[in-house]
Amino acid sequence: MKKILGIITDKVAQAFISCGYEGKYGQTGISNRPDLCEYQCNGAMAAAKAYKKAPIKIAEEVVGKLATDSIFEEITSVMPGFINIKISTEFLAERINQMAEEDKLGCEMEKEPDTIIIDYGGANVAKPLHVGHLRSAVIGESIKRIMKFFGNHVIGDVHLGDLGLQMGLVIEELRDRKPDLPYFDEGFTGEYPKEAPFTISELDEIYPAASARAKEDEEFNERAHNTTFQMQKGNRAYHAIWEHIMNVSKIDLKRNYDNLNVEFDLWKGESDVQPYIPDMVQGLLDRGIAYKSQGAVVVDVAMEQDNKELPPCLIQKSDGAALYATSDLATIVEREKLYQPDRYIYLADKRQDLHFTQVFRVAKKAGFVKENCDLKFLGFGTMNGKDGKPFKTRAGGVMRLEYLLKEINEAAYQKIVENQKANGEELSEEEARGRAAIVGLAALKYGDLSNQSAKDYIFDIERFVSFEGNTGPYILYVIVRIKSILAKYAETGKNEAEATKICPAVKDSEKALMLTLIHLQEVLEMAYKEIAPYKICQYIYELANVFNSFYHDTKIISEENEMQQKSWIALLKLTKKTLEACIELLGFQAPDRM
Ligand code: ARG
Repeated sequence: MKKILGIITDKVAQAFISCGYEGKYGQTGISNRPDLCEYQCNGAMAAAKAYKKAPIKIAEEVVGKLATDSIFEEITSVMPGFINIKISTEFLAERINQMAEEDKLGCEMEKEPDTIIIDYGGANVAKPLHVGHLRSAVIGESIKRIMKFFGNHVIGDVHLGDLGLQMGLVIEELRDRKPDLPYFDEGFTGEYPKEAPFTISELDEIYPAASARAKEDEEFNERAHNTTFQMQKGNRAYHAIWEHIMNVSKIDLKRNYDNLNVEFDLWKGESDVQPYIPDMVQGLLDRGIAYKSQGAVVVDVAMEQDNKELPPCLIQKSDGAALYATSDLATIVEREKLYQPDRYIYLADKRQDLHFTQVFRVAKKAGFVKENCDLKFLGFGTMNGKDGKPFKTRAGGVMRLEYLLKEINEAAYQKIVENQKANGEELSEEEARGRAAIVGLAALKYGDLSNQSAKDYIFDIERFVSFEGNTGPYILYVIVRIKSILAKYAETGKNEAEATKICPAVKDSEKALMLTLIHLQEVLEMAYKEIAPYKICQYIYELANVFNSFYHDTKIISEENEMQQKSWIALLKLTKKTLEACIELLGFQAPDRM
């Protein structure tokens, strides 16, 4: 459906035109002084310069044309030339009812949907997931949902780091711990065991141990490097261990991502694209795009307009080994072959900016992607602790994602128990834990997504799980509150399904709620165009606030005028539906009670 700002702007622009000015001056926006008006047009000021006239004169003329239009309750010109607008409650109710009826709450789908690859998650197999991967998963999942919501064909790929040094480290550590395994018997020609030589908890312990050892033991470190290289080249024994690591690790990763309500369409990784590498590198050399430099293969990516120097992209080391950039380029080659995406969106720590700039330049230069293909890197900031330094465990180590989730769930659990005590509700342990998991996840995701993703933010459990303030649980609380009013309404023997029509607002707080609701289309479109989930957080926080004002101001259940009551129930349903649609896009859900 047409956005309300579009309708108002059209009317005002028409008025400018019929007064003899250009229509572009009619651009109208949401007022930043809601105490004075709801919408505002500042075009008369700009028109004044172009037409050499006093702005207030122009504003007065335009207002004169619109004074009798029924969509406006009040339209006035204000010094020096503002046009202040309040819309009529009838017009607003009509729009709100349409929004409630329409699919997707009136949001318009992309007319020419794109195929979009979202590369997020980026876990490294055999290494435990840590908080650095959290942001990639949380932000990427939300972006994926937003892109899908607007009708695009979106493919989310976890793009595992599954070939790196961690594999060599695990293999060498395993060799020292279990030298009798057939993988380490060079003369072994039989079939390797189907059973993995370790469990997930062993693997969880092996990698950190090996990684610590490599820092001190040069011989071990070198072995791990060499083994990684052999494994990448296809050594049969190492490949067999690699497969075990992959199987065991993937199960664990899936469980972790499930707990985060993060779901990938593809579980591909760097290993999947290795077969493309030899031809790709050779092709780049043959076409003169890449060249050899001291035995290595590089591609120049600097451009004239660069304001800082961009080093060449290294795609093969002198020993023949492929690099991070090589894998990413080969991944583009494969994605083009399989999906021909119109857009790519990558999520990783913003310190990977140079890497992605290089990769994208090579991809364009080599013609791996179409000229107009949109390759975007969304680098996110660091999650810091309260001390402003990258978030660590109390012991100073890297926090594992699992423990982080446990901690936040525990904090949410405490809040829920407190809340129940205050309400006098009896709650089973199991029920409380179930709710805590839902609330904890909302706290965690909202805490992250409510910041612009490129910025660093402070991870503050106490604040994140609070039921008050700009937090996930606060938003959930409003949804739960609506659910409870709807339940009470049903208890009085009435059917909420029959409450469908919203009448013109009779109270200011009610109109304010409707005005916020009707801006959903603008907000979601902006979040979509700017790839900015935080805009949705800002919006639902505002919506939750205006809803609470309305709620405190209105006795819904005891209202005697049945039509009025029905209208409010319908308004509540729309508020709930809107909030739920938004949190769905952010990647979390609301419990029934909390
Ligand atoms: N595995 C990488 C890391 O942990 C992130 C992968 C990002 N995606 C990509 N296509 N390079 O840093």
